[in-house]
Amino acid sequence: MMVGGQALRPLRVVAVGQADGRADGQAGGEAIEIIDQRLLPHRLEMRTLNSAKEVFVAIRDMWVRGAPLIGAVAAYGLALQAQRDASDVALANTAQFLSGARPTAVNLAWALARMQQVLLATPLADRARVAWAEADAIAEDDVRVNEAIGRHALPLLQAVAARRAGPVNVLTHCNAGWLATVDWGTATSPIYQAHAAGMAVHVWVDETRPRNQGASLTAWELGQAGVPHTVIADNAGGHLMQHGHVDLCIVGCDRVAANGDACNKIGTYLKALAAHDNAVPFYVAMPTSTLDMALADGVHGIPIEERSGRELTHVTGRNAVGDLVEVQLTPDGSAAGNWAFDVTPARLITGLITEHGIVQASSAALQTLMRDKS
Ligand code: MRU
Repeated sequence: MMVGGQALRPLRVVAVGQADGRADGQAGGEAIEIIDQRLLPHRLEMRTLNSAKEVFVAIRDMWVRGAPLIGAVAAYGLALQAQRDASDVALANTAQFLSGARPTAVNLAWALARMQQVLLATPLADRARVAWAEADAIAEDDVRVNEAIGRHALPLLQAVAARRAGPVNVLTHCNAGWLATVDWGTATSPIYQAHAAGMAVHVWVDETRPRNQGASLTAWELGQAGVPHTVIADNAGGHLMQHGHVDLCIVGCDRVAANGDACNKIGTYLKALAAHDNAVPFYVAMPTSTLDMALADGVHGIPIEERSGRELTHVTGRNAVGDLVEVQLTPDGSAAGNWAFDVTPARLITGLITEHGIVQASSAALQTLMRDKS
């Protein structure tokens, strides 16, 4: 996406000169550069990651976040490892290590499994080169998939625009934008495509407590792209839907089970309940890399990450002189519970927007989708 007249992605490969102990013994080596998302929207800073260990920290501590992006970054983490030691044991240990960085988004395990499958079938001497190429392929596939998701969802917005005057009002939760992917975003892809096509579109941006990915990341992205948007308190969505101010909801997901239950950022379920009560269509943008067909029941089977209570008790923002400062919100000694995700049951989902088209959130539809895909 364009930022300040320049094309920007949340990660890219950079050359670092002579890499220590490169497996193929050749000069040169590569690292990855990521946008440190902890600092947005106040500072746009890049960080260089040189090892699988650094990649693990960046994912765990959410310098990078969003299901597709952590999958792609983890793939590069394995490439960084392959650059040093590409033996079967080293790759297996590193994949296991990286997959533990965050538990909920299945894209992490998906990307690491894809990398391992390719690398274990590759002669040792070629593995470093092939690892970088496969990580690049995962990243580029993500771009294509997200573009396709937007293309398939665009008619949903066009249908609203055709039946009444005024902007199409989309509500989204958390950040399922280009910062959470390699480009386009999932939930935001149809919004960007509609905006580029000249459609009047307006986005209600849930702030998304406690880490405020909506208020800080989605709002920043939309602002950079010139898309009209309004940040709202997480609790405002029901009111807006009740009064006809939301045409449709589009959210992302971190793992969808075989029965169509969709896990996404905490608070998504409440939006789906409010949408259902007010007959507002509720769509989940789902790249098939986020589908976990091995898990029968999402509500009871998807592991929900619990993060530090400090994310709830404290908040970081910019003060009057431009410094980033952290302040405490809660009384000393109050306990804080911080579940990072929830699961929206399939019955509350109008449709899953995939790179292959929009499908019903049901076992039958997902089985057909995966059969046709393969
Ligand atoms: O905790 P985060 O910021 O990684 O959570 C991100 C989300 O919940 C996104 O909606 C999801 O990963 C989809 S991103 C296209």
